Amino acid sequence: MSHLLFIEANDSTHQKKGISSELNDAFLNAYRESHPDDAVTVLNLFEERLPFFDLKLASAAGRLFKGEELTGDDATHAQRLQEYLNGFLDADKVVFSFPMWNLTVPAPLHNYMDYLAQAGQTFRYTAEGSIGLVEDKQVLLIHSRGGDYSTKEKASSEHAVRYMLDLLAFFGIEDVSTVILEGHQQYPERASELINQALQECRQFGREF
Ligand SMILES: Cc1cc2nc3c(=O)[nH]c(=O)nc-3n(C[C@H](O)[C@H](O)[C@H](O)COP(=O)(O)O)c2cc1C
Repeated sequence: MSHLLFIEANDSTHQKKGISSELNDAFLNAYRESHPDDAVTVLNLFEERLPFFDLKLASAAGRLFKGEELTGDDATHAQRLQEYLNGFLDADKVVFSFPMWNLTVPAPLHNYMDYLAQAGQTFRYTAEGSIGLVEDKQVLLIHSRGGDYSTKEKASSEHAVRYMLDLLAFFGIEDVSTVILEGHQQYPERASELINQALQECRQFGREF
């Protein structure tokens, strides 16, 4: 039995049925059907409302990892960070589903990635540079963006998938697949074709991931 952690960073608290939710349902329905014995945890980062990652929290987390006694807010927030970090580390497979917001990932996902980026946990520094510490994790990115960033002129403005791939590689994670829906708002005449193609890819990953 494997454990799948499905991390959503689309604002389902406000918009119940955006295109990201349809992609998520396509993946999750197919996954649950073809992996009936797996444990599936769905984490919606807009619902979780993680406290903002700052240097106070970074320092408290560092002290917690060293086994120091913490008190008050430092203890509460650092333990919460550790729970999210352990949830990620304990999963065999992780899906991140996120739209592009202002050329990058929505802020709650960036904040969550800051929770994961802890020296000594997901990476460590050496004299030769940093090395990733996360092994044997399979990751899928499900991403949608209204514009088309596949052209040479626009590619350098794409900071969402590129950011995720870079940071996951920094953690040592190499096994990353992607489903990218793009251009459905820029090319309205092709929207349903592009959406259907992405839904089909999500179903296929759901069966085979
Ligand atoms: C706040 C906000 C910022 C966005 N920024 C971009 C952007 O920079 N580039 C882009 O191509 N689409 C952008 N979009 C469009 C979304 O990426 C696109 O609609 C995506 O498919 C959203 O999925 P959803 O329907 O699940 O919200 C933005 C949408 C919102 C709400």
